[in-house]
Amino acid sequence: MQRRTLEGTDLSLSVVGMGCWAIGGSDWGPDVRDEDSVAAVHAALDEGIDWFDTAPIYGRGHADRLLRRALGARIRDVAIATKVGVRLDPATGEAKSDLTPAHVREDCEASLARLGVERIDLLQAHWPCELGTPLADTLGTLDDLRREGKVRAFGLCNYSAAGLRAALDVAPVASLQTPYSLVRREAEADLLPLCRERGVAVLAYETLCRGLLTAKWDRMPRFHETDLRARDPRFWGTEYLRLSAVARELAAAARRRGTTPAALAVAWAVSRPGITAAVVGAKTPTQILSSLGRGKT
Ligand SMILES: NC(=O)c1ccc[n+]([C@@H]2O[C@H](COP(=O)([O-])OP(=O)(O)OC[C@H]3O[C@@H](n4cnc5c(N)ncnc54)[C@H](OP(=O)(O)O)[C@@H]3O)[C@@H](O)[C@H]2O)c1
Repeated sequence: MQRRTLEGTDLSLSVVGMGCWAIGGSDWGPDVRDEDSVAAVHAALDEGIDWFDTAPIYGRGHADRLLRRALGARIRDVAIATKVGVRLDPATGEAKSDLTPAHVREDCEASLARLGVERIDLLQAHWPCELGTPLADTLGTLDDLRREGKVRAFGLCNYSAAGLRAALDVAPVASLQTPYSLVRREAEADLLPLCRERGVAVLAYETLCRGLLTAKWDRMPRFHETDLRARDPRFWGTEYLRLSAVARELAAAARRRGTTPAALAVAWAVSRPGITAAVVGAKTPTQILSSLGRGKT
């Protein structure tokens, strides 16, 4: 497993990190089982994955608690990337980004407690603020947390090039998490060049397009209502047909190389200029192994 250092930090990460949204158990359907999730974390560790990406909203804290349980004392040997900001609006139940200094600090303290660690390796603003908080206030708080030793480095997720540029004018942003895959390449237009120019690490998510690039469906899948893909237009109609044609081509290419489509999709992403690492989701050890090219083709 290759590792890459995040410029301006002492943080070095394996080129594949395990994403813990699905194992939080609340947004990816009814087939998430804690025993499988723990086994997936162990398989990831055995394969040299040395960082895990979580968030307070993933299972409303369950992903963090599960990660703590699965990693045990090894939590000190890996890097934990987590996030601040997104919370559920008590009135509507909708997710909203609150990056006010008070909430950033509150989320950070709660994550430290749930994970049982003294310092978070990478703390990321999960989504641009929807409450009008000035960026400088949010970043100032993240930098205060770093100075206080509660955070090793901080980054952003889902910011545009303009947002990232504004952030870099006020604080040492170490990383940007953004969607990027064979079928989602808009970051190439401005975000990736900006990150390369300014030394910001890019952590790509949706490298499997939420499972589509594993080529496991031979017909349009139907998802349980608790699975976010039931409301994702990429999983029906002409968009699904277009994406599944790409997945079939990927599967043929993977067969020729004796690997899995998932592994090829992930390897493609991490080999692209400007991509530092991929955050890959998995519910079971078989899935994470297959995404690393260790499973059945
Ligand atoms: N910062 C952000 O705003 C943000 C947003 C999204 C994601 N992320 C991060 O990125 C991580 C990955 O999530 P993602 O949305 O990018 O999804 P993804 O990695 O593209 O897809 C993950 C899903 O694909 C299926 N899968 C994974 N490996 C497989 C394999 N080898 N064979 C067959 N199926 C497989 C699993 O779901 P099924 O088995 O149910 O099909 C799994 O939950 C998240 O956990 C999170 O850490 C961050």
